Amino acid sequence: MTHPSPTEPAPGSDVADLDTPQLLVDLDVVDGNVRRMFAAARGRGVRVRVHFKSLKCTGLARHVAAAGPDGFAAAKLNEAEALADAGVTDILLANQVVGLHKLRRAARLARRADLIVCVDDADNARALSAAAVAEGTQIRALVEVDIGMARCGVPPGAAAVELAQTVAALPGLRFYGLQGYDGHLQMLPDYESRQAQSLAGAEALADTRRQVERAGLPVALVTGGGTGTWEFAAAVPGVTEVQPGSFVIMDAAYHKVRPEFGCALSVRAAVVSRRPGQYVLDAGSKAISRDFGTPEIKGRPGDRVLRLNEEHTIVAADGAVPAVGEAAEVLPAHCCATMNLHRACAAVRGGRVEAVWPIECSGRYD
Ligand SMILES: Cc1ncc(COP(=O)(O)O)c(C=O)c1O
Repeated sequence: MTHPSPTEPAPGSDVADLDTPQLLVDLDVVDGNVRRMFAAARGRGVRVRVHFKSLKCTGLARHVAAAGPDGFAAAKLNEAEALADAGVTDILLANQVVGLHKLRRAARLARRADLIVCVDDADNARALSAAAVAEGTQIRALVEVDIGMARCGVPPGAAAVELAQTVAALPGLRFYGLQGYDGHLQMLPDYESRQAQSLAGAEALADTRRQVERAGLPVALVTGGGTGTWEFAAAVPGVTEVQPGSFVIMDAAYHKVRPEFGCALSVRAAVVSRRPGQYVLDAGSKAISRDFGTPEIKGRPGDRVLRLNEEHTIVAADGAVPAVGEAAEVLPAHCCATMNLHRACAAVRGGRVEAVWPIECSGRYD
């Protein structure tokens, strides 16, 4: 996909000279976040699988891949396909694949990538098995366990063991392990409560692993945790991998519970109007996701975003009101949903554009 704007930033440009609005990814901050996460996870003896749903951009995935993650996760098939196109082989589709079209696509993808897919339903596992057999391939399958989020997954314990046995007996599938994701806890502001609940979920997952092993099935992978809970999952013996995504680029909402990771993602916008105590930027809810709350203004911690209209962000200024034409960087409240609103991002370092990357999976839900 090409960026349709006539003012697409060129590599080498000064950020101050870019047209607005412009999505920016600060590579120095990304590199710091990635180094910190990889070192901390390895220090706890778990693998890190980076969740591509936060990035949706293979240029950024390649950049992260250079730091040596233990694979990538995807939320949707189109993301898994984009990762395979970018040369990633170890891909966890951390979700269910349903329907003939997608089952066929998943089986085809398994011919060129070492794909892992989640299942939480025996009939769906049979359909996945049939698709793999028809395509002459084999797909690694994880049984998804609901550890409290009440989204996908079978209950921990006997139900998970039974589904694992079903999967293990199916041709075209290789029972590979368990996934349990505690999405409901990621942004719990109270650390102790997040820790206690996340540990309880990870214990239930690890206990399910032991039950599956007692039933005679080897478990190669037990994966879970996100940016807000990864170290709790990592602390429980039997969990082998964490799968965070947002930590790479971060956002204003996650930064409140994870101040150790820096905000690399911003939308650079220009002041189009001003009045005493207030200014208005030329990017609104079509460029900055409102998911997870209000964005913040980088470098102006006292300023308060009052509201977002489609093409405007209205900000109460703390102190001097910037002049019309001056630029500010908006830190979105939700990075993944903001990446999904743009077709390209400028990767910047030290105030200069280092690369311009298409965001191939933005606007795709298949
Ligand atoms: C299955 C799954 N794994 C992991 C994550 C972790 O993502 P993050 O680190 O961005 O919270 C998510 C987020 O939605 C998810 O749905």
